[in-house]
Amino acid sequence: MILHPRLESLQQRLAPSPLTAIEDSQLSHRRLRLSIKRDDLIHPVLSGNKWRKLKYCLNHVLNAGYSGVISMGGAYSNHLHALAYACQQLGLKSTGLIRGEQTTELNPTLRDLLTWGMELRFVSREHYRQLRDPQSYEGFKFSHPDYFWLPEGGSSQLALQGVAEILDELPDEYHWLALACGTGTTLAGLSSQLSAPRQLLGIAALKNAGFLNQDIARLLTQFPHHPRNWQLLLDYHCGGFAKTTPALIRFINAFEQRHQLALEPVYTGKLLAAVYDLIEQDFFQPGQHIIVLHSGGLQGRRSETFTTSQ
Ligand SMILES: Cc1ncc(COP(=O)(O)O)c(C=O)c1O
Repeated sequence: MILHPRLESLQQRLAPSPLTAIEDSQLSHRRLRLSIKRDDLIHPVLSGNKWRKLKYCLNHVLNAGYSGVISMGGAYSNHLHALAYACQQLGLKSTGLIRGEQTTELNPTLRDLLTWGMELRFVSREHYRQLRDPQSYEGFKFSHPDYFWLPEGGSSQLALQGVAEILDELPDEYHWLALACGTGTTLAGLSSQLSAPRQLLGIAALKNAGFLNQDIARLLTQFPHHPRNWQLLLDYHCGGFAKTTPALIRFINAFEQRHQLALEPVYTGKLLAAVYDLIEQDFFQPGQHIIVLHSGGLQGRRSETFTTSQ
C-alpha cells in the first residue's frame, strides 16, 4: 500500500528493529533458543507496537482528509503518548480522553502530550468505561466532527496490517512468538498472517482478561479461514494492570542487569517473567526457538503509581 507522503517521511526516520539473542544457562540447559525482537529500538517515542498499530490508521486519517484524531487512555498511556507525537509530526490535531480526575500536577506522560499539542479532556472512570462501547463516543463526534475516532489502545482493524509487518522482519526458523496483550490488537495482527506451524503466546497484562478471547476473535473476523494459532495466558498479571509484585521487580532488575536490556513492569516485564516461568515448567520443547516481542512502553517507567499487590 502506498503511504501518504507525510507518513512516508516519518517512517524514514525510524530505525530498524534488530533481533537480540539471549543466552543463559536456563536456556542452554533445556536446549532452547530465545531472541528478543527489539521494537523498543525503532524510535524513542514511536516505539514498540505503537508505530505498528498506528501506521495504517494514520495513513487512513491523512488520505481521508480528517483534521485530527481523538482517542482515549490512562494517565500513563503509551498509546496516547505515541499518538500525540505522531499527530504533531504529521500536522494533525489530536484529543486525548484521559481516565480519571485531573490532578494538580500533571505527570511526565501528560506533560509530553500537552507539549505535542494534544487537547486533554479528563473523564470520570465510569464515563471512560462507557466510552469503550462503540455507541457512546458518538457524542464526541458533535464536538469534533472532522476527527477520526481511534478506540482505546489503538485497537482497530486498521491496526492489523501494520502489526503483521513484524513477521516479515523475523527469521524463518522459530516456533513461538510471545507478546504482551492489553487490547489483544497486536496479537490479532500477528495471528492474521502467521504461518503454521508457528504459534503465538499472548500474556495478558490485566486481570480477568478472558474477554480478550472474544475481542481478538472479533478483530479477526475479516480472516474467517485463518487457523487458531494463538493462546492467551491469563495468570501472569501480578495482581492486575500496572500492579507489580516484589518477585516481578526482582526479575526485571536481574534480567536488565544480565542482558543490558530495559523492560518496564506493565507489559514487557510481565511477559519475560512469564516466558521464564514457562521455561522452568518445560512448556517449550527442547530445540525450540522462542521469539519475544519487545513492544516498547519504556516511557511508562516514569510512573510512580505502580503498586505492589503482595
Ligand atoms: C508497551 C506495550 N506492550 C504491549 C501492549 C499491548 O498491546 P495490545 O493492546 O495491542 O494488546 C501495549 C498496549 O498497547 C503497550 O503499551
